[in-house]
Amino acid sequence: MEPRIELLCLVVFIQVYIIAAVTDSGDVAALNSLKDIWRNLPLNWVGSDPCGDGWEGIQCMNSRVSLITLGSMGLEGQLSDDISSLTELQTLDLSQNQGLTGPLPASIGNLKKLTNLYLNRCGFTGPIPNTIGSLQRLVYLSLNSNKFSGQIPPSIGHLSELNWLDLSDNQLEGSIPVSDGTTPGLDMLANTQHFHFGKNKLTGEIPEQIFSSKMSLIHVLFDDNELSGPIPSTLGLVQSLQVLDLSNNHFDISGIPTWVSSLSSLAILRMESTQLQGHVPVDLFSLPDLQILGLKGNKLNGTLNIGTNVGNQLSLVDLQNNDITEFNGTGGHNIEIELTGNPICQETGPTETYCEPPQSTSLFNTPRSYCSSAKCSSDQVSSTTCKCAYPYTGTLIFIGIFFSDLGNSAAYKALQESLMLCFQSNQLPVDSVSLSNPRMESSTFLSLNFSAFPYDRASFNRTVVSRITFLFSNRSFKPPPSLFGPYFFESDEYNYFSDEPKDTKKSTIVIIIGAAGGGSVLLLLSLLAGVYAFRQKKKAERASIKSDPFARWNVMKNNGSIPQLKGARCFSFEELKKYTNNFSEANYIGSGGYGKVYKGTLPNGKLIAIKRAQQGSKQGVLEFKTEIELLSRVHHKNIVGLLGFCFERHEQTLIYEYVPNGSLNETLSGMSRIRVDWTKRLKIALDTARGLTYLHELANPPIIHRDIKSANILLDQHLTAKVADFGLSKPISDSEKGHVTTQVKGTMGYMDPEYYMTHQLTEKSDVYSFGVLLLELITTRKPIERGKHIVKEVRMAMDKAKDLYSLHQILDPVILDESLKGLEKFVDLAMSCVEESGVDRPKMSEVVKEIENIMQIAGMNPNVETPTSSSSYEGLSKGSPFHPFSNESSANSSTFVASN
Ligand SMILES: *[C@@H]1O[C@H](CO)[C@@H](O)[C@H](O)[C@H]1NC(C)=O
Ligand SMILES: *[C@@H]1O[C@H](CO)[C@@H](O)[C@H](O)[C@H]1NC(C)=O
Ligand SMILES: *[C@@H]1O[C@H](CO)[C@@H](O)[C@H](O)[C@H]1NC(C)=O
Ligand SMILES: *[C@@H]1O[C@H](CO)[C@@H](O)[C@H](O)[C@H]1NC(C)=O
Ligand SMILES: *[C@@H]1O[C@H](CO)[C@@H](O)[C@H](O)[C@H]1NC(C)=O
Repeated sequence: MEPRIELLCLVVFIQVYIIAAVTDSGDVAALNSLKDIWRNLPLNWVGSDPCGDGWEGIQCMNSRVSLITLGSMGLEGQLSDDISSLTELQTLDLSQNQGLTGPLPASIGNLKKLTNLYLNRCGFTGPIPNTIGSLQRLVYLSLNSNKFSGQIPPSIGHLSELNWLDLSDNQLEGSIPVSDGTTPGLDMLANTQHFHFGKNKLTGEIPEQIFSSKMSLIHVLFDDNELSGPIPSTLGLVQSLQVLDLSNNHFDISGIPTWVSSLSSLAILRMESTQLQGHVPVDLFSLPDLQILGLKGNKLNGTLNIGTNVGNQLSLVDLQNNDITEFNGTGGHNIEIELTGNPICQETGPTETYCEPPQSTSLFNTPRSYCSSAKCSSDQVSSTTCKCAYPYTGTLIFIGIFFSDLGNSAAYKALQESLMLCFQSNQLPVDSVSLSNPRMESSTFLSLNFSAFPYDRASFNRTVVSRITFLFSNRSFKPPPSLFGPYFFESDEYNYFSDEPKDTKKSTIVIIIGAAGGGSVLLLLSLLAGVYAFRQKKKAERASIKSDPFARWNVMKNNGSIPQLKGARCFSFEELKKYTNNFSEANYIGSGGYGKVYKGTLPNGKLIAIKRAQQGSKQGVLEFKTEIELLSRVHHKNIVGLLGFCFERHEQTLIYEYVPNGSLNETLSGMSRIRVDWTKRLKIALDTARGLTYLHELANPPIIHRDIKSANILLDQHLTAKVADFGLSKPISDSEKGHVTTQVKGTMGYMDPEYYMTHQLTEKSDVYSFGVLLLELITTRKPIERGKHIVKEVRMAMDKAKDLYSLHQILDPVILDESLKGLEKFVDLAMSCVEESGVDRPKMSEVVKEIENIMQIAGMNPNVETPTSSSSYEGLSKGSPFHPFSNESSANSSTFVASN
């Protein structure tokens, strides 16, 4: 049977081959001419039928070449006129081939169907031909990072469909062309969102005419040119503008233009070294979306007053090297202010943080899993999943980042996840991504080393490398927008293509054609039989997957490949027995939702918590799988870390980081005898809120926890809170946009009544549960006691006119003798979280901001860890059970599943 099937497949292949051998002869000739002058082309560019033979990097429609993607191929040579014969071409990506040199031929204007032209980071020289204006359908034009010289062709103004115009980092000179009735100009580009002209030699004034309220621009980059004169006030009419960079030019302006404050969508404003004088207008800081204000190297003077109405997106104000003499900080903001090199920092006295030179590098490196030995042979590199391979590498360069700590591993983790997700959804065989060495290049842009490791083999083939490059060329990859601004990608040369010559196939085919002869009816019948058998097998596989959620994993395991779960490792049952002393009674630390929990010790001394499912519980199996899949994707300080799992011999075991101080539930109830004062409660609330914000707003896809309660919040040795127990959690895929209709699950008392009524689950259901948790934090009462719900109790007892809202009777007596600064705001926040209607509740990121505010009112710095000294432990009794997953003590706090 085996050899016969092989034969059949080949026959089918031949038929396809014969039918499809129809690549347009003009296109064949054009590609063959290019092949003659280009070096380092894919090895399978042989034969006379590029479409039918599947030449790498070529795609066709109706036997015409429609798409060429050969980015990062190491191509060398020139782009000849031959390209102009490919008149059905829609996408041409030759980006990141620095060996492609010489001029861009004028005949490129013949490619009338072209929508996407990516020639960025090649070695092109000479002028950009004026014929580029004939490409009427062009939407994306990236000519950046070449050596183009001469003027910007005015004909670009004819490209009425153009969305993306990137000419930055060339040697373009002269002025910016605008229309004058006879000649076209860039002011005609009403649909264009991106004007990237930075790093050229443009001169003259920016014409007033180029901007108007009909423009759709979101990014305008004129940085690093030789532009002079005033900055046109018409720029203030472009209300869509989000990023504006005018740095390093020779403008003749006196102060920061007043129209800047009318750009209500502005997120990044850079005017570095632009001869600005006078004071910084205070209304600039109240722009609602402003995140980065880069004004260093000017002559701005006087008092820096950021006012009281600061936009809540603002993260960085960089005023290094100006003449600022005073700072009127109002406090309470989480804004990084840079004033190094100003008179204010030259005076003696206490050094303020705003005088410390900003961090410009960080040693961040994507964390690795346990590699027994990280040494790889020869020039291979070890991936984060401990595989030795040849990664595809490059640099990601961000125009803006919306966080100030360069070592912010959560941000890089989110970036890494979004990269992986992009590769996965494009079915690219990427096993893992690592990011390292974040650095501020010329203290303006963040650069980050990027490596993608191949899945299942040591190196990538050409197809995969060019497809990865294309994802960056055409911006299919979008970084998490709350953390990263616009980006560029610069690839390194890849010298490890796995492709091998494939010229052996042809001869086999010929032999089989001869052998097959007239027996094709018989062959066809057996072919159908084969397909049928294959289908039956798939059906059986599917059925078994249905009854056992791990069937697919087991299949993969038998094939020798362990499920690809980033960060989490698969432990063997033998190992776990060793770490727990054969699951000894001494190591038993409690029982959780569906089984027993043991403490274990890894060979390196690290403590782990092992959650072992009870056998035979179907519910548990699903929860188990959900938890592994979700937790292995999330990594955050305030979320309990999953180290691994084991699913051998009907054992379902999860391995977590060990969290020594047990659950918040136990702590509040006094079981663990840790005294938690008001400030510690605030910190616990903040930690939990940060963990939830990560799940809702940074995890990709977002995750709804569905079972937020004090029993699921664990406290580590510093009383840092970590969200645990993801058995009921739900990821939200894009298609579900905001809500999921599900069977109602959760815990009574914490459960969102709106969700309970409508079965529609949104992040706001977690916000509700979190609100209940906040009330629990100040009252130390269970959500339902003696039949009364805490939300109702507080609402009834509350009198906003009185001190502490008159809640003395309900508040935990333990904290009552402290000065409860900010308590009223805390109660307000809790009550807004438990609003009846989800839309009226705040988002978790808003909750975080408010708790930070409250902490400042209480005299705490929300960004400083408060190490808990042992003195805060009262009469710590030796025998008391400090364990992460406790028995849930009361019946009414156990997890509830409504039957449908
Ligand atoms: C700030 O600079 C402006 C313009 O150079 C000047 O007129 C003004 O007197 C300066 N103000 C202070 C407080 O030095
Ligand atoms: C400092 O800020 C406060 C609050 O915005 C304002 O009332 C005061 O006038 C400012 N002082 C100076 C010198 O700008
Ligand atoms: C980052 O990449 C650059 C070049 O792309 C290289 O020179 C540098 O060594 C890399 N740094 C690290 C830490 O890998
Ligand atoms: C390149 O690799 C991918 C994935 O590993 C594979 O699907 C594809 O067929 C390969 N292409 C060639 C031409 O070998
Ligand atoms: C990028 O290419 C993909 C695949 O061809 C396409 O679906 C997507 O729309 C393109 N994106 C842009 C922004 O052109």
